[in-house]
Amino acid sequence: MAGKTIKKTTVTAEARIAALKKQLREARQSSRAARLDTEFALELERRRSQELEEAYYDTVLRLTRASAYKDRETGAHIQRVSHYAKILARQLGWSDDDQELIFRAAPMHDVGKIAIPDDLIRKRGSLNGGDRQVMESHTQIGASLLEGSTSRLLDMAREIALTHHERWDGSGYPHGLVGEQIPISGRIVMLSDHYDALRSRRSYKRSIDHEATCRIILEGDGRTSPGHFDPRLLEIFAAVHGEFDAVFEQYKDESQR
Ligand SMILES: [Fe+2]
Ligand SMILES: [Fe+2]
Repeated sequence: MAGKTIKKTTVTAEARIAALKKQLREARQSSRAARLDTEFALELERRRSQELEEAYYDTVLRLTRASAYKDRETGAHIQRVSHYAKILARQLGWSDDDQELIFRAAPMHDVGKIAIPDDLIRKRGSLNGGDRQVMESHTQIGASLLEGSTSRLLDMAREIALTHHERWDGSGYPHGLVGEQIPISGRIVMLSDHYDALRSRRSYKRSIDHEATCRIILEGDGRTSPGHFDPRLLEIFAAVHGEFDAVFEQYKDESQR
């Protein structure tokens, strides 16, 4: 009789253990399934936002191309500015993602020129007060074209469009910001754009070689002053200027080949 009871108790315990094991297995499976579901949803979300960023980039490149039709600046100029900006960002220790972000955002710096009258854009020589004001408004127009988006790319592009003519010493426009009041992205593109403008040949000016351009940026020439640039970026530029020259040579305008 006692033997029977022990056997029954053992069977019940074994059954309970088996049931618990089964429950545990099922719980593990369902938590694994939930994890896979979450991973899948995250991956989907990541892909969706990547596609969205690509779509933004594509649209904005077209907008940039449209504004370049109006301007003397060429597609090659825009490409080179992206490369210089990335060099400076890398030297500042930015992550690969952020380097890519400024590489993509920099081409939009002059997108606001799309709204500036053609005759003003083509005017040579210095502009009078009223004309200069209209011309300088390309910074604010560009920013308003790019604002209001949740995209990091468009947000950085807006910041650059607005601040790429600000100068470290406060003598720039549109707001006369000083030093670190100017977002770093604007400071980077300002130096990049300036280097390229000096090196480029225009209908109204000859091109300047790399050595002379470095001298102008690092020592000044009456129009350009080292005080216009972020000193940290100037230091980097002085160390890696050869890379700027290499970019200029690699992405030359057709007319300058
Ligand atoms: Fe500009
Ligand atoms: Fe430019």
